[in-house]
Amino acid sequence: SHRPFIAYRPIGPSDLGILQQLHADLFPIRYEPEFFHNVVNRREIISWGAVDRSRPGAQSDDLIGFVTIKIVLARESEITDLVKCDSTQSDQTLVYILTLGVVEAYRKFGIASALIREVTRYAKTIPTCRAAYLHVISYNTPAIYLYKKMSFTCVRRLYGFYLIEGQHYDAYLFVYYVNGG
Ligand code: ACO
Repeated sequence: SHRPFIAYRPIGPSDLGILQQLHADLFPIRYEPEFFHNVVNRREIISWGAVDRSRPGAQSDDLIGFVTIKIVLARESEITDLVKCDSTQSDQTLVYILTLGVVEAYRKFGIASALIREVTRYAKTIPTCRAAYLHVISYNTPAIYLYKKMSFTCVRRLYGFYLIEGQHYDAYLFVYYVNGG
C-alpha cells in the first residue's frame, strides 16, 4: 500500500509494550519481564530498533524490527576455546546476540541484515571485543540462511539446547570474529 522508509533508532521506555508483544509473537521462548525492562532502560542490554517512517501518524515510530545484545567476558563464555584467548588479556569480551526479529509484513527487505550489520559494526568499535555470537534453533532455516549470508560461521550443534513445552530442540552456535579474534 505504501513504500516503506525504514529507519534505525535506539530502543527506549516508550517501546516496552510493543517490544514485549513482538517477542511473544516471534519466539517460541518466553522472556522475563526483567529482560524487557533491561532492554528499554538500557541496563546491561544494548539494542537497535527498526521503524517504518512512511506509516501514518504515531505508527511511524512503532518498532517493526529489533536486535538485542549483551557484552560478556570471553573467559566466562561458553566459547572461550574458540577465541584466541590471551591469558594476559583477561578483559577480552564478546557480543552475545540475544534476540533478533522482524515483523512478518516487513520480512525479506534486508532489515534483519541491517540490524546484524549494526551489531557487527558496534562489536568492531569495542577494542576488547573478539567476536559476536548467538544461538539459533536448528529448524529455523530463514535465520540460519541469514547468519550464513552475514558471514557468521556455524561452530557447534548443541543437542537439546532448548526446552520448549517439554520438547528438546538442538541449537546451532554461530560466531562472527572481529578485531583479530
Ligand atoms: N527463507 C530462506 N532464507 C531467508 C528467509 C526465508 N524465509 N528469510 C531470510 N532469509 C535469508 C536469506 O538468505 C536472505 O537473503 P536474500 O534476501 O538475499 O535471499 C537473508 O536471510 C537476509 O534477509 P533479511 O531480509 O535481512 O531478513 P528479514 O528482515 O526478513 O528477517 C528473520 C529475518 C529475522 C529471521 C525473520 O524471518 C524473523 O523475524 N523471524 C522470526 C524470529 C526469528 O526467527 N529470529 C531469529 C532467531 S535467532 C536469534 O534471535 C538470536
